[in-house]
Amino acid sequence: MAGAECKTWLIVGASRGIGHEFVSQLLKRGDRVLATVRKPTEEHAIAYWTDANVDPSHCTTLKCDVLSEESIDSCVAELAKVPQLRLDQVVINAGVLKYPNHATGV
Ligand SMILES: NC(=O)c1ccc[n+]([C@@H]2O[C@H](COP(=O)([O-])OP(=O)(O)OC[C@H]3O[C@@H](n4cnc5c(N)ncnc54)[C@H](OP(=O)(O)O)[C@@H]3O)[C@@H](O)[C@H]2O)c1
Repeated sequence: MAGAECKTWLIVGASRGIGHEFVSQLLKRGDRVLATVRKPTEEHAIAYWTDANVDPSHCTTLKCDVLSEESIDSCVAELAKVPQLRLDQVVINAGVLKYPNHATGV
């Protein structure tokens, strides 16, 4: 996928679960992804989300804790530094279930 077909996504809460799967599938199909995690480590590189052959410029990891205004502001400041950034889609996935997950019963 290239040019106009390649979309840029911001996925907030990408360390596991649905957010992780979003990043994995988007990278595999050739989109560009900015993925946020609460505690970024060296492990949070492309290989954390997919073993597919992905353009390194297509995956950026940012830090964001949505319960912290300071963290959100800092994340936005980091986003503002990305040259010519245009976000096509934003997924605010971060959160926790407050009731049993019907799929797993947990
Ligand atoms: N799975 C379902 O059946 C289901 C159904 C309805 C709605 N949902 C909603 O869909 C979303 C994802 O569900 P999931 O099953 O994928 O959940 P999950 O496996 O528990 O993953 C939650 C994700 O949100 C991140 N997160 C939690 N608190 C955060 C915070 N304060 N700031 C930033 N990131 C935070 C977690 O990061 P850490 O690794 O740092 O904790 C993790 O990446 C949740 O909002 C959930 O309520 C899920």
